[in-house]
Amino acid sequence: MKAIAIREYGDIDNLKEIELKIPELAEDEVLVENYATSINPIDWKARLGYLKGMYPWKFPVVLGWDTAGIITQVGAKVADFKVGDKIFARPDIYIDGKKGTYAQYVAVKEDKLALKPDEITFEAAAAVPLAGLTALQVIVDRLKVKKGDKVLIQGGAGGVGLFAIQIAKHLGAYVATTASKKNHEFLKSLGADEVIDYHETKIDAVLNNYDAVFDTVNAIDDGLAILKENGRLVTIAGNPSEEQKASSKEVSSWWLQPNGKQLGKLGNLIVAGEVKVIIDSVYSLTAEGVRAAHKKSQEGHARGKIVIKVK
Ligand SMILES: NC(=O)c1ccc[n+]([C@@H]2O[C@H](COP(=O)([O-])OP(=O)(O)OC[C@H]3O[C@@H](n4cnc5c(N)ncnc54)[C@H](OP(=O)(O)O)[C@@H]3O)[C@@H](O)[C@H]2O)c1
Repeated sequence: MKAIAIREYGDIDNLKEIELKIPELAEDEVLVENYATSINPIDWKARLGYLKGMYPWKFPVVLGWDTAGIITQVGAKVADFKVGDKIFARPDIYIDGKKGTYAQYVAVKEDKLALKPDEITFEAAAAVPLAGLTALQVIVDRLKVKKGDKVLIQGGAGGVGLFAIQIAKHLGAYVATTASKKNHEFLKSLGADEVIDYHETKIDAVLNNYDAVFDTVNAIDDGLAILKENGRLVTIAGNPSEEQKASSKEVSSWWLQPNGKQLGKLGNLIVAGEVKVIIDSVYSLTAEGVRAAHKKSQEGHARGKIVIKVK
């Protein structure tokens, strides 16, 4: 099968097309013919070697951690999914380096799968798992946002931020967010109550007494400054210092836990029209396409998700 892989850490030119064997399945896995995947900042961070300490991968490494496609084979112990099911998932990260999603076929553990809603395309579905699950887990499970809470989402126009704004609004929160000016009207159209241009305005000049902060841009001190006593801050982009953790406010970091059941719930919110999937751009599964997609993501100003169409 065709895959896009790196043979060493480095710049985008290291992304090359290679031929790989179709992955062999464990008993609890399904084989997915991949129709679309998407880019997340973890992809280019991994390419640059920033995750060396976490994942001792064997090269060549196929990057990519979102898939939407059709099941073509099931392992012996798979109970709830069958050949022909249209699915989407954030697969596990495998140390062999060969099971990333920049590939025509992907092996995915059953517990990471959800049925793709018929109402959305494979490209839209591939934009959801990693970013959407991160937003859902932070807003619902970690920050425990509820009706009437005042919530700040830093980085509202990003892949995670856009899901987070819509999930928090669905829960009945008052939502402030940060973004460049060109995105303000768009974020308001998705429900944001207040949008702050982070280039011009310090957030503590305009916000205070917030119940919760979701930090997707590593600006922890800025978030802490507007939280009320005992308010909660979760970052997915930085490591809180000892000093920040010792504050009277609750500060923690979060790493996404892939989960098919939760992904299914997110799919229901999308079908119900509560959450829209916002796609910045679509590229093809070629070395040139994936390089251009990495470049776009690394520039840091995509509005929504960058998708790779595989089939
Ligand atoms: N821990 C985890 O499990 C986990 C999971 C997912 C993502 N992450 C991390 O979370 C971060 C965000 O991910 P993502 O997928 O949302 O990234 P993304 O889609 O690449 O984010 C791009 C957006 O960031 C905004 N932005 C850049 N700098 C900003 C700033 N200083 N203040 C406010 N907005 C800013 C840009 O908005 P404008 O164009 O409006 O400036 C742009 O829309 C990344 O570092 C990623 O690695 C972690």
